Amino acid sequence: MDRLRIKGGRPLVGSVKVSGAKNAALPMLAATLLADGEHELGNVPDLADIRTMLRLLGRIGAYGERGQGRARRRVLVEVSTDINPVADYDLVKTMRASVLVLGPLLARHGKARVSLPGGCAIGARPIDLHLRGLAALGADIRLAHGYVEATARRLRGGRFTFDTVTVTGTENVLMAAVLARGTSVLENCAREPEVTELARTLVAMGAGIEGIGSDTLTVKGVGKDELAPMKHSIGPDRIEAGTLAVAAAITGGDVELTECAPHLLDSLVDKLRETGARVTTTNGSMKIRGPVRPTPVDIRTSPYPGFPTDMQAQLMALCSIADGSSVIREKVFENRFMHVSELGRMGADVRVDGHTAHVKGVPSLSGAPVMATDLRASASLVLAGLRAEGSTYVQRIYHLDRGYERLERKLRSLGADIRRLRR
Ligand code: EPZ
Repeated sequence: MDRLRIKGGRPLVGSVKVSGAKNAALPMLAATLLADGEHELGNVPDLADIRTMLRLLGRIGAYGERGQGRARRRVLVEVSTDINPVADYDLVKTMRASVLVLGPLLARHGKARVSLPGGCAIGARPIDLHLRGLAALGADIRLAHGYVEATARRLRGGRFTFDTVTVTGTENVLMAAVLARGTSVLENCAREPEVTELARTLVAMGAGIEGIGSDTLTVKGVGKDELAPMKHSIGPDRIEAGTLAVAAAITGGDVELTECAPHLLDSLVDKLRETGARVTTTNGSMKIRGPVRPTPVDIRTSPYPGFPTDMQAQLMALCSIADGSSVIREKVFENRFMHVSELGRMGADVRVDGHTAHVKGVPSLSGAPVMATDLRASASLVLAGLRAEGSTYVQRIYHLDRGYERLERKLRSLGADIRRLRR
């Protein structure tokens, strides 16, 4: 099982390109099921989760393959009418985003059998709102033996308001509404950039969606033969960009991120500036100069455009060495503080009280063997290791590989002393 060895204390310097967004690519791959033919996706990051989604599509009957060499970021997906509308537990349990095939399969093929995802390290993560949204479009939803059995002769336009803002819930119901007969109005939708990118791509395929970027999406259903295969290049991963920006800040470095979309990270940039980092942005790149020692900041996660929950663990690593105390409130997930105990092994002083973490900044961290528990917690431990004195060994980095494309190479290109050890 791979692990990373990080020798901390080196300021990161240089320029690095941000990869395509995992959380845009996953719904986009599911959306290929809405139209027969050959779909072309560019700038697709090479990640474990993407490989899982391609494996799932293959089992369904949509065959995706990644290009070679210079074309390795391009993925072609061939979709035919010969579809097996099933998402098995063995794949869904490893990646809950697999449930994104539910809406498209139901909309185009009138039936789907998708395993319930079950919980994960950061929370119960139900899909009740996905299912209620699909039912509002006329789907018959049954739960049996750990699976969702969904059928619909043809979905019909309906109104639905999400009780809680849900990113993949919005994406699932939106994709279903695209082929429903009539108009649907979806309220309290997620406004994450990845939802906007999906909606715009669906429109480019022939869908009728208004209100893109707002919390109310109005969808005029179209006929199956009115959707053409997609041809789209995935936008930059704002969470990878944010993670690399914190790497620059925590090491007191001077880093430029290229081909990123800084305007999607306003809440993070504001917080980094509050810590004393100097951040300058242009339309496609961002420069971060870290402070010698960060000033403490208070954070409260919330749906976009608020502070992203996917950046909470990374900011905690930065706050752990701040010159004072920070308060971090996790308001999206119920258990997203798994990184706290591991940061504590490195000398961080963090006390958790329910959804709130009280971080008392310490002058320095010390390298230690630590264990990753979920995707962003593992990123947080890498960031702490970049600052810590001595060597940090991060174990179970398969969590990291789910959402970061060879993060250690990007960090090494900026001067970090970081190696992947294969055992
Ligand atoms: C997406 O997960 C992202 N994943 C997550 O990124 C991200 O942390 C999350 O949105 C929040 O921004 C993808 O886009 C593939 P939610 P998702 O539904 O859609 C509750 C990463 O690190 N809820 O927006 O699964 C839920 O329990 C991953 O890249 C219901 O109650 O998250 C949570 O408390 C981790 N019922 C809240 O909503 C539902 O039916 C937000 O979850 C659905 C969600």
